[in-house]
Amino acid sequence: MKERSSFNSKIGFVLAAAASAVGLGNLWRFPYLAAQHGGGSFLLIYIILSVTFGFTLMVAEISIGRKTKLSAIGAYKKLNKKFAFEGVLSMIVPMIILPYYAVINGWVLKYFAAFISGEDKAAAADGYFNAFISETGEPLVWFLICLAGAGVVVFLGVTHGIEKSGKILMPVLLVLMVIVVVFVLSRPGSLEGVKYYLVPNVKNLSFKTFLAAIGQLFYSLSISMGILISYGSYMSKKHHIESSVHQIEFFDTLVAFLAGLMIIPAVFTFSGDAALSSGPSLMFVTLPKVFASMATGRIVGTVFFLMVFFAALTSTISLMEAVVSNFIDAFHMKRSTAVLITLAYCGVLGGLASLGYGPLSGVTIFGMHILDFMDFISNSVLMPVVAIITCIFVAFVIKPGAIIEEVEAEGSVFRGKKVFSFIIKFVAPWFMILILISSIMQALGLFKL
Ligand code: PHE
Repeated sequence: MKERSSFNSKIGFVLAAAASAVGLGNLWRFPYLAAQHGGGSFLLIYIILSVTFGFTLMVAEISIGRKTKLSAIGAYKKLNKKFAFEGVLSMIVPMIILPYYAVINGWVLKYFAAFISGEDKAAAADGYFNAFISETGEPLVWFLICLAGAGVVVFLGVTHGIEKSGKILMPVLLVLMVIVVVFVLSRPGSLEGVKYYLVPNVKNLSFKTFLAAIGQLFYSLSISMGILISYGSYMSKKHHIESSVHQIEFFDTLVAFLAGLMIIPAVFTFSGDAALSSGPSLMFVTLPKVFASMATGRIVGTVFFLMVFFAALTSTISLMEAVVSNFIDAFHMKRSTAVLITLAYCGVLGGLASLGYGPLSGVTIFGMHILDFMDFISNSVLMPVVAIITCIFVAFVIKPGAIIEEVEAEGSVFRGKKVFSFIIKFVAPWFMILILISSIMQALGLFKL
């Protein structure tokens, strides 16, 4: 067997994980969910869940990977044959996310193209975004460009090289975001939006906020997708799992936080608070308006969408790499075959998701458009299922001690071990079961939140 390569430095591990963690989840999904679900209340719940549940599950998954030196399918099988199905289940999650992720990646590319070609003012007009996504051909073309681009990188097996570029792109993205934030906050009227975003309001607090926050947390940190297990399998015993997890969480949440600070007050200023509930279109509708009102808006907007595009593309690539390497491991396929199969099924499913806002907009599943349904089934159903099984597996099969021993390898100190054991045994499984039941009941219309 080939010697498993490992990350040379802890910071290398953290940056690689952060580059794949930071993507559309932070920049596109977090702000619109926060806007829809009560601003400050959502933010507060998100942060609390992140340092408790997010922390616990990330530590568990990375440790399982490092302990077994295998990716999800092999790792669960090695630890307990009866749990081999858990590896397969976690493999399905990125398979569902990838096609629609590439569709939104395509939207971002379209906006970059619009800005660089001087269509920036048109992009700021009301109705531009809806007109674009309800077309047939154009969104499909942008989607296929992103899908094919990711396919080439994954086929050539150079994903690590791409991820390295994250070291340069991530800081540039952060600086740009800070510039836009400062600009937005200096607009008259933005204070209302800042208040909505930062000050939790009990009135806005509901169970639905919890549901949205936990789904987002998993999505953003790539939990329950088998991905952290693979990352862990490449991590050296010398490096400290606990502090790596803290750093990844900090960085990922910082980017999401800034994205919200950039978008939510801007919504108040440019579109009024009625626009808060606009959902997935928030980034595409509001930000062009902000750029249009800046003197150097076209340049800032062009660079901004380029950065978002790269952040999204690196995530599309790592999602695709996860799917392809699972195919290779599970079915002993050649890389080229695995890439072709992945491109084919993603082309079909992503195509349907893209058309779901246009010619297929009449097709809804439980009242959701195709893309929203794919998002729902992966984030609100499968991820909790995988997380519940992971908790049961760690709490009762291999026992928390097995994870603690891994985190404490080579003399590392595991400061949060009591919190970890408590959450994984007594809190997380029950809470996740509750989340799962309520999100299914909600989708079936049995239960109105
Ligand atoms: N976490 C990424 C985001 O927030 C999505 C992603 C999931 C990327 C899994 C890679 C792997 O956009």
